[in-house]
Formats: sequence, C-alpha cells, structure tokens
Amino acid sequence: MAGSRTFTMIKPKAVKNQHIGGITAMIEAAGFKIVAMKKTQLSAEQAGLFYEVHKERPFYGELCEFMSSGPIVPMILEKENAVADFRKLIGATDPAEAEEGTIRKKYATSKGENAVHGSDSDENATLEASFFFSALEQY
Ligand code: CMP
Repeated sequence: MAGSRTFTMIKPKAVKNQHIGGITAMIEAAGFKIVAMKKTQLSAEQAGLFYEVHKERPFYGELCEFMSSGPIVPMILEKENAVADFRKLIGATDPAEAEEGTIRKKYATSKGENAVHGSDSDENATLEASFFFSALEQY
C-alpha cells in the first residue's frame, strides 16, 4: 500500500542554517518516503497566495515576508496516516511548546520561523502539493 500523502516545506531560516540534511534525515527515519522535493524561492506575492487562508491574521504580512526571504525546500511525503503522523513529527507551531524529539524542538527558533510547514488536512495536502509540483515531479 502506498499510504497517504502530506506536504511540507523547509522554511528559509532552516535552509540558510544548513538543516536540510538534518530535517530530511528525521523525516526518512520516521518512515516517510520523499515523493517530490526541490529547492526554490517564493516571491512575496506567491507566499501570499500559498498562505491565503491566513490573510486576515495579524502575522500574515510578516509570514509572507519571511517565507519569501530566501530559498525553501518543498516536499511531498508519503506514509500511512501521513498528515497526522507528520504533524506529530514536527511538533507544536511554537517551538517553546514542541515536544522533545520533534523537528521544531530541534530546529525552530520562533513561532514565525518554525523550521517547517506541515499540511493540516488531506485536502490541503493535495492543494499545497499541486502549488509546487506537477504530476511528472511526483515519484
Ligand atoms: P505553518 O505551519 O507554516 O502555517 C502557518 C504559519 O503561520 C505557521 O506555520 C507559523 O510559522 C506562522 N504563525 C502562526 N502563528 C504566528 C504568530 N503568532 N506569529 C508569527 N507567525 C505565526
């Protein structure tokens, strides 16, 4: 069984601090298969589109500015129960609340600069994956 899919991206500060290897190692060790992966950079406008659901939140401007401040590494991941299991692996949005052994506990520096994104539902995982990857880029 192929399992289900989720979407993640390594955020600019974690890429800048050279944590791509550390984070992908944790992802693979937790049993996720990396189905698609690339290094790219969003414009502020593209970041705004990706995070449109947060448009009314006070941190939206800051979030779009940060997410377009440098290269990111988007990925599609596959595993049984992928969305929920990945959210467990990354830990709470605020690294101060993230449990020991989670990606955010190890690599995040603040709520805004929290190392990785993780989809919150199967529906959003599909939408977010298609924002970055065509069908030909998913194996
Ligand atoms: P992410 O999983 O990428 O989804 C939305 C992002 O908004 C979230 O991670 C955080 O990085 C960011 N975010 C949420 N709350 C705050 C906040 N209070 N201040 C700044 N950024 C936030």
